[in-house]
Amino acid sequence: MSTVEPFARPVYVTAPLLPDLTELKAMLEAIWENRQLTNNGKMARLLERELAAFLRVQHLSLFSNGTTALQLACRVLRLHGEVITTPFTFAATSHALYWNGLKPVFCDIEEETFTMDPQKIEDLISPETTAIMPVHVFGNPCRTEEIEGIAQKHGLKVIYDAAHAFGVEVGGKPIGAFGDISAFSFHATKIYHTIEGGALAFNNPYLKERADALRNFGIKSEESVTEPGINGKLNEIQAAIGLLLLKSVPIEIERRKEITYLYRNLLQGVPGISFGKDLEGVTHNYPYFVIQINGEEFGITRDQLHEKLKEYNIFTRKYFYPLCSHFPCYRNLPSADKHNLPVAERIAEQVLSLPLYGSMENEDVEKICDIIKSLRDM
Ligand SMILES: Cc1ncc(COP(=O)(O)O)c(C=O)c1O
Repeated sequence: MSTVEPFARPVYVTAPLLPDLTELKAMLEAIWENRQLTNNGKMARLLERELAAFLRVQHLSLFSNGTTALQLACRVLRLHGEVITTPFTFAATSHALYWNGLKPVFCDIEEETFTMDPQKIEDLISPETTAIMPVHVFGNPCRTEEIEGIAQKHGLKVIYDAAHAFGVEVGGKPIGAFGDISAFSFHATKIYHTIEGGALAFNNPYLKERADALRNFGIKSEESVTEPGINGKLNEIQAAIGLLLLKSVPIEIERRKEITYLYRNLLQGVPGISFGKDLEGVTHNYPYFVIQINGEEFGITRDQLHEKLKEYNIFTRKYFYPLCSHFPCYRNLPSADKHNLPVAERIAEQVLSLPLYGSMENEDVEKICDIIKSLRDM
């Protein structure tokens, strides 16, 4: 052990934003008064409008979680065959395809942003390809112009998994305005959340109309069920939490930005540790602080650091490891061959997500960095 004392209480990789309890009580009283708990109630309808305004998107539909939103996005666009996606993401991205009977085709990622490498997409297009599903991973915007250029050339749809990108803008354009559909997650671990929840953003009102029917069993009107939808509705209590938390988001992002800059300052120049920087023209949202460990230069491997930090009550996450292309359900796909995914394979072995949330104290960040540095010196 180094001379730095462990934390007295566990420090987890994130801590959820919480609404003010008095304000929540007032919202609950309003729901009790209305006596409508779900089925696109008053709170959910208001939240859809407020979120569309906040995210500056034309049309938005709420869902019970981000995975259901992604699954229904594929359905709304009537995708079939193969969809090109990234292996460096949370399981939900590939699983949303699988549950639609679609075949994920894994594309390698870029070194700098960990997002899909547009240069590698065209080689993966086959007569079966109907769409591309890239991920704005860690809030880093994908190369939207190149990706959408390729999609247009080959007549493909684009669904962005924007689960990490709430509030991000590129050249003044909101992240949800790109592609055919963007899918957000409002899981409690995200910057903005409704405990569980998600949304789809569209530029086309017809797509929202279909999504709204699909999240409600395919019911179009009282006597018309037009297709086999599912139950993907967000309830009123969660929508109320979403309404209350929306006003905290700018402060949360600002504080996360300060913490990110503090981490960068303190870890700058430590041999074997590297991390991303702000990208030109991008308004970032700072959802994660991810470092890359080069084990040879740092002295211990990423996995050893991850384990050692537990002894100090610091619980980091290996985001994203293993790659989706390593899961038993996908590893036999030809595109899952590790030789096709050299960048993703290497990055997945090196990344470690450090604790980051708005209520963290500067001293906590300083202590975490001291501990990391002391482990290197051992
Ligand atoms: C990249 C990505 N896509 C999709 C999801 C799924 O969202 P949810 O947990 O709301 O279903 C998540 C996270 O949870 C995610 O990180």
